[in-house]
Amino acid sequence: MCGIVGYIGARDCTEVLMDGLEKLEYRGYDSAGIAVFENDIIKTVKTRGKLEEMQKKLQTEGKPTGHCGIGHTRWATHGEPSDINSHPHSNGRVTIVHNGIIENYIQLKEFLTEKGYVFTSQTDSEVVACLLDYYYAERDPLRAIIETVKELEGSYALGIIFRDFPDRVYATRKESPLIVGIGQGEYFIGSDIPAFLKYTKNYVLLGDDEIVCMNGQDISYFDVHGLPVEKEVSVAEWDVEQAQKCGYPHYMLKEIHEQPEVVRKMLNSAVKDGVPDFSEIGLTDDFMRDVKRIFVVACGTAMYAGMVGRYAIERLARVPVTVEVASEFRYMNPIVGEGDLVIVVSQSGETADTKASLELSKALGAKTLAIVNVKYSAIARGADMFIHTPAGPEIAVASTKAYTVQITALYLIAFRIAFARGTIDEEELKRLTAQLGNAPKAIKDIINNKDECQFIASQLVNAENLFFIGRGFDYALSLEGSLKLKEITYIHSEAYAAGELKHGTISLIEDKIPVITVATQSEVLAKTISNMEEVKSRGAFIIAICRRGTVFSPESVDIRLELDTVLEDMLIPLPTAAALQLIAYYTSVLRGIDPDKPRNLAKSVTTE
Ligand code: AGP
Ligand code: GLU
Repeated sequence: MCGIVGYIGARDCTEVLMDGLEKLEYRGYDSAGIAVFENDIIKTVKTRGKLEEMQKKLQTEGKPTGHCGIGHTRWATHGEPSDINSHPHSNGRVTIVHNGIIENYIQLKEFLTEKGYVFTSQTDSEVVACLLDYYYAERDPLRAIIETVKELEGSYALGIIFRDFPDRVYATRKESPLIVGIGQGEYFIGSDIPAFLKYTKNYVLLGDDEIVCMNGQDISYFDVHGLPVEKEVSVAEWDVEQAQKCGYPHYMLKEIHEQPEVVRKMLNSAVKDGVPDFSEIGLTDDFMRDVKRIFVVACGTAMYAGMVGRYAIERLARVPVTVEVASEFRYMNPIVGEGDLVIVVSQSGETADTKASLELSKALGAKTLAIVNVKYSAIARGADMFIHTPAGPEIAVASTKAYTVQITALYLIAFRIAFARGTIDEEELKRLTAQLGNAPKAIKDIINNKDECQFIASQLVNAENLFFIGRGFDYALSLEGSLKLKEITYIHSEAYAAGELKHGTISLIEDKIPVITVATQSEVLAKTISNMEEVKSRGAFIIAICRRGTVFSPESVDIRLELDTVLEDMLIPLPTAAALQLIAYYTSVLRGIDPDKPRNLAKSVTTE
């Protein structure tokens, strides 16, 4: 949540900060703001709304000119999105940007009010600026930061400037991400690498409660006691192109189109001699043979990828798999321990609940495996074993390519576990892996058929409610299709296991209500068709997603989207996912919504 940037160097600071914020806007877009030293005076410009509002404000108020400053795009947690609540926040001699939540802000506010501080915003963040000022009595910025973070409870990434030091940017973090960019005589901070990728690929990861101080010539790192720390510089693998729209009207459409390529990359990275091989990361056949139970823990779309994984692992390897929502898992006192494998799935690798679930699982003695897209993220680094999903930067809020690559990784794991446990032989392992090799083409075929998805979108554009139904893998896909649609179109949608509808929900079916029936699984096809008929006979408008040539009774289907693929049933979720993503995307665009930045959402959810 929220994007933080900071810069010191010879370039035009406002330009660098605005450029960085544009790259991070996917993390939050309730407000934006910057604070830049202009002739030793801090000039702050901030406004409610998206970055384009900020651009307008800079035009009318004038751009601060300077070489040192900080910036922020907000995803409001405390206090409505408003000009006053926008970051940066200044109090006394300190100006800050904050990502996260200060859980004890009420107590701190009371304490600081008694000391005479007056607050102007409703945010939790402003207490940090005040507290820093309070501890700045000896005009020692480092001491002030050390004393302040001792008092803070919750999560934070902070970019800090002190009025008396126009040539320095300080930053620190706990639980929220913050990355330092190292250029030639210039330094950056960012919540994610794309914020400064245009200027440098060299970066340093700041640990919890480590503090960085950068001026134009030098950079120093300190631990929580103020002792110097040596940090390792890494080089980012992502390039600028990957983090740009490349001619597509939206990141989401670009990312949908990237799926054939990134699924292929996943296969290339995990398949050796025609079979999946994870021994390098410690996921050995011996380990998989002995595993008692598997848990997949994640949030949102990543959790729905886990559901597909569950069906595949259970079907092939006959190991019990439980899929849990991370925000529930962490507080349910889960019965997990030695002999169990907990797989956490996350695009960002930052999701607070998923991270906490990972830590809990480790503490309970389970082995942990992270399937994560961002290599340098906390979840990727925290797990016992780590599979990197090579989807590249996913910028659109709605997850698309990360989801299909997560599913691909889970299929490969399912195949290998099944082989390790002897429920499939080597020949079958090779056959399944080769089958999965056909997935990129199957996804491409659907993308080439996007006109049909666009037509379906034109039929949904005025709907107020709709349903998705399916069984087995199709149920998992229905859940994801429904989430995708509601997050970017604001149409109320529910996904149901097709057989469950008649236990209550069917009373909501009325004339012309769209019901998207996902019917790709031959084993349960006849049953799904019966459920579809049940809603059709109550007036529903049926859109069926099925294999080419599926036979339905005449008049039972209003529109059909046929998948033309050689993939076997278990693997068909990959092209189906692309179809559902395109339907959601086009419906969003037809409704005049920006699918990349739907209301109320943010790309990575670093708070509970
Ligand atoms: C996806 O479209 C959603 N925006 C959301 O559900 C997302 O998948 C969820 O927040 C998990 O994020 P993560 O993969 O970064 O952990
Ligand atoms: N809690 C802070 C606020 O509401 C920061 C939120 C964020 O991370 O954007 O302003």
